[in-house]
Amino acid sequence: MNYRKFGRMNWKVSEVGYGMWGMGGQWGGTDDTGAMSALHKAVDLGVNFFDTAWVYGNGHSEQLLGKLIKDYKDKKLYITSKIPPKNFKWPMEPQYRLEDTFPTEHMLEYTKKSLANLDLQSLDLILLHGWDDAWANDKRWQESVKELKKQGQIKAFGVSIDRWEPENAIQVIKTGMIDAVEVIYNIFDQAPEDKLFSVCREFDVAVIARVPFDEGTLTGTLTLDSKWQKGDWRNKYFSPEVLKASVEHAKTLEKDVPKHMTMSEMAIRFILSNPDVSTTIPGMRRVENVKANIASSEKGKLDPLLIKKLRSHRWDRKPSPNAG
Ligand SMILES: NC(=O)c1ccc[n+]([C@@H]2O[C@H](COP(=O)([O-])OP(=O)(O)OC[C@H]3O[C@@H](n4cnc5c(N)ncnc54)[C@H](OP(=O)(O)O)[C@@H]3O)[C@@H](O)[C@H]2O)c1
Repeated sequence: MNYRKFGRMNWKVSEVGYGMWGMGGQWGGTDDTGAMSALHKAVDLGVNFFDTAWVYGNGHSEQLLGKLIKDYKDKKLYITSKIPPKNFKWPMEPQYRLEDTFPTEHMLEYTKKSLANLDLQSLDLILLHGWDDAWANDKRWQESVKELKKQGQIKAFGVSIDRWEPENAIQVIKTGMIDAVEVIYNIFDQAPEDKLFSVCREFDVAVIARVPFDEGTLTGTLTLDSKWQKGDWRNKYFSPEVLKASVEHAKTLEKDVPKHMTMSEMAIRFILSNPDVSTTIPGMRRVENVKANIASSEKGKLDPLLIKKLRSHRWDRKPSPNAG
């Protein structure tokens, strides 16, 4: 496993971290035994950065992570969770005010809930689960962060940027009040390279690259007939139009996957070829996916000629209510 500096916190985090949304139940139910096996395998292979959120199963994913931590008391594992917006609505809309989403008492309450689920006294990092940069200079959230840090409940603070609007955190980074951003960055979503990453570099803010497989499209396994179990959020996200466009983009990309490489390997290595990324957090529920993604990172950066080719696969999309 390769490790990278996590912005100004100077932590050494595994460049492949662990995305834990899939373990909350919204991805077609839960299999806690399978999830725990995959998590154990990840730690055994060197993963030390974990991304969860209260909303991933109303604490369920956090509780699984809490169990994992107990099994590795001798290892430093970096734990990130997220405070849901008070109105529980994603994505953020311009009419939402800070008091609708992240008022102080709510931020304090949900940090406590996450700590209880994880059975920890202090979280390494907490993120606001959604953000609107119009709030950047509002002193209220800034005071809440100071309070959480003063009480020792969090060591670092950041924001998770809504889908397809990577520039919607530039002002908050410039306040100097955040230590990390979580943003969608992958072969399709290259837009964070335009402006966001240089500001992160300037302020030494860590970059957590999420959704490395575009929710599955970049594994090359989607077809026009793909369907998921009842209750799986992907049935809504991959509407017929989105599924068709996704399959078409993946088909076009397939032509540029080198021999002896899978599309998933290329997807992970594309992200990790960028030194602005501190860690990427694939969603993984199966041991074989854990092993494959770690093996991909160990193969190193992609050939610059391939990266150049992959530039043409950039796919800019507009935020929409279904895509929260
Ligand atoms: N802040 C936010 O608002 C927000 C939003 C979305 C996601 N996130 C975070 O980002 C993480 C990653 O995003 P995501 O889970 O939504 O999507 P993703 O990582 O793009 O895709 C996850 C899918 O890829 C599959 N997969 C993983 N490795 C694979 C491999 N080597 N070969 C084939 N398939 C593979 C997974 O299968 P299995 O599940 O079967 O292993 C799962 O179906 C989340 O888990 C969450 O922690 C945050």
